[in-house]
Amino acid sequence: MRQPLSPPVDAAWHWMKPDLQIVDFWLSRVNRLWSTHEPRARLVGRHIEADGITTLTLKPNRHFKGFKAGQHINVSVEIDGVRHTRSYSASDRPQRDRLIRITVKAIGSGKVSGHLQHLRLGSVLPIGQAFGTFELPDAEGQCLLLAAGTGITPMLSLLKAQAALAFPRPITLAYWARTRREWVQADVLHAWSKLHANFKLRLIATGESKAEDNELTGRINPTHLQDCLPDGERAHALVCGSNDFVSAARALIEPTALSVQAESFTPPVRDAQGVVEAGTVKVTLLRSGKTVEVPRGQALLDALEAQGVSPAYGCRMGICNTCACGKAEGSSRDLRNQHIDEEPNHALRLCISAAHSDLALEL
Ligand code: FES
Repeated sequence: MRQPLSPPVDAAWHWMKPDLQIVDFWLSRVNRLWSTHEPRARLVGRHIEADGITTLTLKPNRHFKGFKAGQHINVSVEIDGVRHTRSYSASDRPQRDRLIRITVKAIGSGKVSGHLQHLRLGSVLPIGQAFGTFELPDAEGQCLLLAAGTGITPMLSLLKAQAALAFPRPITLAYWARTRREWVQADVLHAWSKLHANFKLRLIATGESKAEDNELTGRINPTHLQDCLPDGERAHALVCGSNDFVSAARALIEPTALSVQAESFTPPVRDAQGVVEAGTVKVTLLRSGKTVEVPRGQALLDALEAQGVSPAYGCRMGICNTCACGKAEGSSRDLRNQHIDEEPNHALRLCISAAHSDLALEL
């Protein structure tokens, strides 16, 4: 935090502060990575990992404070004059060179993923500080990592950090992809499993009809878990994948796991717990002076976007805080636990909150 300055200097600071944007503008004319305060990164490498999956290497400026294995980083791109922000897990461990690697899958309708995959080397992107607490637990015991699709990315980060320490604790990775061509860094994973007795690997292709040596097929099921944890062994489970995968994995592993951490890269399906919210409410956007009508019970981020309002967002899962904005009036519902909040809120996360009554938002 900035130390208090002497009154005249402090007054000068406050007078100058609004001009930092202008300073940034001129700095970025000299070097687009330069900023007085904003973390930015230059795209310095691109590597095709598998079908439709690319790893991008980003070199951050000095405002980026680094990341821990398993954390997410928000990355912004400008497309047709509009800034879009998405959260990506780092797919590498933190290293001295401070480089960030993110692994991006092209999704049919995904504007940002497609744009990132074809971005020119040397391009500069605004990034956020790393966030998230997806990590191997300190408690003793083996770990079981269950990853599906691009859910492998935080697992790769965690595993690379463990590989750098020669796998000091027993870890099993079970990794589902639709076809063999979609496994990311399977050669690295195989090499670790041959080199380190503490690392076991199970590759599972859901869309292949026949399993090859040491492979399994089909969607996650009790036989897969039995194969990973024979003889009733227990483990700390970390799960990452689509919402359906995470729900299925949780249901199977939770009864016996030592602990479970799960992250989904699709927005969580909200359990309405019998709550029926009907009708619409008015949402007043105090900064833009607009008023829009949105359905009660729908995530405010989705509802506002449907009305042509574009709040900033990253994860759409309530993790990154990018969508947080002030609520001046009205009551909102937390879609994760159905809790109603009637008080003004300084940081209402639009992606996991719905309007319960008319609202006034600092947007
Ligand atoms: S978009 Fe990340 S918390 Fe809402």
